[in-house]
Amino acid sequence: METRFESLGPLEAALWRELMMAAHDREHGWHSCVLATHDAHDGPDARTVVLREVDPERRQLFIYTDARSAKHRQLDADARAMLVCWSPQLGWQLRLRLICEVRSEGLDVTSRWAQLRSRPSARDYLAPLAPGVALPDDPARQPQAAPTSVERTHFALIGAQVLSVDWLELHRDGHRRARFDAHGARWLQP
Ligand SMILES: Cc1cc2nc3c(=O)[nH]c(=O)nc-3n(C[C@H](O)[C@H](O)[C@H](O)COP(=O)(O)O)c2cc1C
Repeated sequence: METRFESLGPLEAALWRELMMAAHDREHGWHSCVLATHDAHDGPDARTVVLREVDPERRQLFIYTDARSAKHRQLDADARAMLVCWSPQLGWQLRLRLICEVRSEGLDVTSRWAQLRSRPSARDYLAPLAPGVALPDDPARQPQAAPTSVERTHFALIGAQVLSVDWLELHRDGHRRARFDAHGARWLQP
């Protein structure tokens, strides 16, 4: 049965529980979210990413990416980002304000790559060309998608510190909104 939270403490705990579940459940609406960044040249940018890990104690999220991607360059220049998540099942939207750090070296990265390297999704980080590179019009002249060696990975880890959570519930009995940040928790006009 559907639970409608009447107080902010249990609601905050529930949304972090849902985020943790979303990282492990492909069917969860929040498994794929939209990460918005700022590009110094073009301004706003956004793309879909998969939520890989959630640490509710530290208020941290982890996303995997290609170290050569535009988002990496953008986050190195401006670490501020926004992750937008929508679950039709819950009727909940989250807007998470983040500070991100992208790492392509170190134990955090190698330990995750060790788990990933034998899976089919490892191919995403082994392509010989960087994401977004222009390809020749003639398909016959396009480089093979097949990777060469798992040692030449471009895998990178985006670690995100959550600064604030803006929660919006769409509901037939009335929409509700709340904010959770360093100033505490409060209800907002939706
Ligand atoms: C459902 C879905 C999930 C995706 N997950 C990721 C992801 O976890 N990490 C990632 O770097 N790109 C992911 N992508 C691809 C990005 O949306 C984007 O096209 C790519 O990363 C290049 O983005 P950039 O040029 O802004 O860096 C996903 C795309 C879709 C449609």
